[in-house]
Amino acid sequence: VYWDSLDSSLVLLDQRHLPVKIEYIRCKSPADTADAIHKMIVRGAPAIGAAGAFGMVLGALKFNRNLNLDQFLMDLHNTKDTLDRARPTAVNLSWATNRMIQVAEFVAKATNSIDRVVDALLLESQALSDEDVDINKRLGKFGAELFPDTVEVLHHCNTGHLATVKYGTALGIIYSAAEMGKKIHVWVDETRPRLQGARLTAWELMQCGIPLHLIADSVAGHLMSKGKIDAIVFGADRVSRNGDVANKIGTYSICVLGKENSIPRYAAVPTSTIDLDTPNGDQIVIEERNSEEVTEIQGQRVAPENVPVYNPAFDVTPARYLTAIVTEEGVCYPPFEKSLAEAKQKAEVRMSELRAKRLNSYLK
Ligand code: MRU
Repeated sequence: VYWDSLDSSLVLLDQRHLPVKIEYIRCKSPADTADAIHKMIVRGAPAIGAAGAFGMVLGALKFNRNLNLDQFLMDLHNTKDTLDRARPTAVNLSWATNRMIQVAEFVAKATNSIDRVVDALLLESQALSDEDVDINKRLGKFGAELFPDTVEVLHHCNTGHLATVKYGTALGIIYSAAEMGKKIHVWVDETRPRLQGARLTAWELMQCGIPLHLIADSVAGHLMSKGKIDAIVFGADRVSRNGDVANKIGTYSICVLGKENSIPRYAAVPTSTIDLDTPNGDQIVIEERNSEEVTEIQGQRVAPENVPVYNPAFDVTPARYLTAIVTEEGVCYPPFEKSLAEAKQKAEVRMSELRAKRLNSYLK
């Protein structure tokens, strides 16, 4: 996910074709960006947050400067709605677009200038992207400390360089553990229906030189029952106030099996994924995706024509199935209602001075 300042476009590695084809696409408008998020050209909660922020910049750049500042701000709100609708479960998307709206309103009020707001939005989207890398590295270190020196880890979906701006959340923990010299081996589940594990995580880990085995999703329980897994790690798209975790479909199953087999279960999230406004997992909207994701594998039909399909992209793991939630502010343990609120507060305190400095710099 990066911004090309030469032609003012958002450049995305097209994750639909990995690892077979390496192709980049350019988004030149908010509609292009929303489409790329919906089609999962870019995916993973933090990565779509960053893409959403740049999508807001594209909206601001496209605005007809002959119109007034109020119309500009209204247009920006419409752009936010378009982007937020592209994928409803991951809170990072609306968190990022909301942050852009706040900056726009602050600079608009202080300067009364559309040009100044546009400049500020570009700087803010870049700051948001840079912060993501720093947050993942902090989170990774906290999580890696939970692992013994030799560890067999089960990982679900893709949470690494491809799902964030860089480095990763749950995979960030794995990268950090390897950097600390821990002997780590990863069981990568394929993550049907879209195969993020097989296509993306296996590809990333191999490039990073981390030992792994790819397994079919249904192998995870067998490995657990044989004592072959020491820890389960995964990311999240939204964590509710009580610690229920919405993540890639299949997370609930591996957590229930993990608890049954007394294996620790760690969700890894930046605090931006914690949604204190959502009391529990029942309130989280679960995105349903098209039937072809299930009836076809990489464009090849594997099920009868016209078969009825149910394809939820995420599930909710109730908080009681989690051992801990790792954030960039430290490791949160039950009761999550208290520890998650504290982590959010710590992040707010840590970031507020930097935010104030940044906002002031936009007015100079
Ligand atoms: O549908 P996807 O591929 O966007 O789902 C991604 C996940 O579920 C990840 O686990 C989550 O976004 C965390 S990524 C750091």
